Amino acid sequence: MKIIAGNWKMNGSRTALDDMVDSVSRVAGNDLRIMMFVPYTMLRTGNDMVMIGAQNVSKFDTGAHTGDVSAAMVRDTGAVATLVGHSETRDALHDTNADVALRAMHAIDNDLLPIICVGETDIERKTGIGEKVVVHGVRESVPKNAKNGGFIIAYEPRWAIGRGITPTTQEIADMHRIIRDTLIDMGLGDTPILYGASVTAQNVREIINIKNVSGVLIGGASLKKQDFIPIIENVK
Ligand code: PGA
Repeated sequence: MKIIAGNWKMNGSRTALDDMVDSVSRVAGNDLRIMMFVPYTMLRTGNDMVMIGAQNVSKFDTGAHTGDVSAAMVRDTGAVATLVGHSETRDALHDTNADVALRAMHAIDNDLLPIICVGETDIERKTGIGEKVVVHGVRESVPKNAKNGGFIIAYEPRWAIGRGITPTTQEIADMHRIIRDTLIDMGLGDTPILYGASVTAQNVREIINIKNVSGVLIGGASLKKQDFIPIIENVK
């Protein structure tokens, strides 16, 4: 089964989400899992075809954390998944891998399926430590309560994300193999690994067929039906 996850970032509205879920449900196939990660205000129950998730959850359980939203609260909306450690939230909230692991731990404890994002920056890549950063990202951001296949990893090359740049097929294959080997070593080898950065209807078919790519995480091209629906059609 292939996974197509849309990340709306700080875009959209409840009406736009209802419309997207309706349209996506009409084209989704049985061997596809579609997920939509939306702002907190739009969280709701999805349907058999489309899972709805948050873009982050608190690293705290409950209490005096004004402005924060806990995993239990996200689950209470009917949503069933969450991103954690997305590159933009790592930047904005200065999250370490340990912080991301806490968020993922609370997600799992509250029956939310976490997508744990890892990736290397431009500087890390250029100085030759990209692979090391990604391996550490996986080892340190996956919490102790994670079960084999009970979460998802997303590889986001941070030097490419939101910029319309795509790594080569070989670069994606190499990094996904390294992540797969790391997960196997951790006893978590059945975990799906998504690729996420600059995926479009034009490049999705090639990317989805790369070894160890279980699906895609899509930002910009998930916002409009005319971009997102062709992506789903091209993966089917
Ligand atoms: P992008 O974003 O597709 O716009 O590069 C990917 C993501 O944020 O997951």
